[in-house]
Amino acid sequence: MLTIALSKGRILDDTLPLLADAGIVPTEDPDKSRKLIIPTTQDDVRLLIVRATDVPTYVEHGAADLGVAGKDVLMEYGGQGLYEPLDLKIAQCKLMTAGAIGAPAPKGRLRIATKFVNVAKRYYAEQGRQVDIIKLYGSMELAPLVGLADKIIDVVDTGNTLRANGLEPQDLIANISSRLVVNKASMKMQHGRIQALIDSLRRAVESRHRG
Ligand code: ATP
Ligand code: PRP
Repeated sequence: MLTIALSKGRILDDTLPLLADAGIVPTEDPDKSRKLIIPTTQDDVRLLIVRATDVPTYVEHGAADLGVAGKDVLMEYGGQGLYEPLDLKIAQCKLMTAGAIGAPAPKGRLRIATKFVNVAKRYYAEQGRQVDIIKLYGSMELAPLVGLADKIIDVVDTGNTLRANGLEPQDLIANISSRLVVNKASMKMQHGRIQALIDSLRRAVESRHRG
């Protein structure tokens, strides 16, 4: 059995067409089903539906052989516990700092609100800046508006969410897209099969980005 961990929403929506090109189609619609283990047209391939931030955990521990996760999630997860053999070029966005338009520099230490605590620590440590990091789980854009933080670190695509809240994108931390991740033991034990799937997915990605 080959088990692939995916999260509902944009990753599932953008990964299913690539899997279909590789001959893997869920036998029921994961968006409508409340099942968390979804069989596919290939008897020995199944999908696990997990939270986006949990994908690396399932794959590193071998509960899933493969998964699809945003580079932002992988940067935050950290470590060397996973192979990352393929950029699927889906769910593209940027990881950025953002703050209120025209806000004066804070008098004390800069306060950063984010769900990407490890990324934030690394980013400011590399700049030699001491900052206070405030962990949030969502709606980061609110933090500067109500005085919880001076800036946020979040993913930005169109910039609409920032603009709607009077914030502006500032510094680029990383360009983000979703990656195929593979459990290290699975890669050894089921090498032929997993490599064949990686090759099919690579061809599917390339055909979408050609001309
Ligand atoms: P969770 O539901 O577990 O909190 P999430 O809300 O980050 O996770 P999604 O919104 O489905 O999950 O995002 C999945 C991935 O898609 C993110 O990790 C990021 O790489 C990318 N992403 C997030 N927002 C956007 C966006 N507005 N445009 C394009 N890609 C995005
Ligand atoms: C993400 C992210 C930002 C927003 C950025 O949220 O946390 O709030 O998208 O996208 P934008 O720059 O295009 O506004 P969410 O997962 O809720 O995205 P969604 O609103 O696109 O579903």
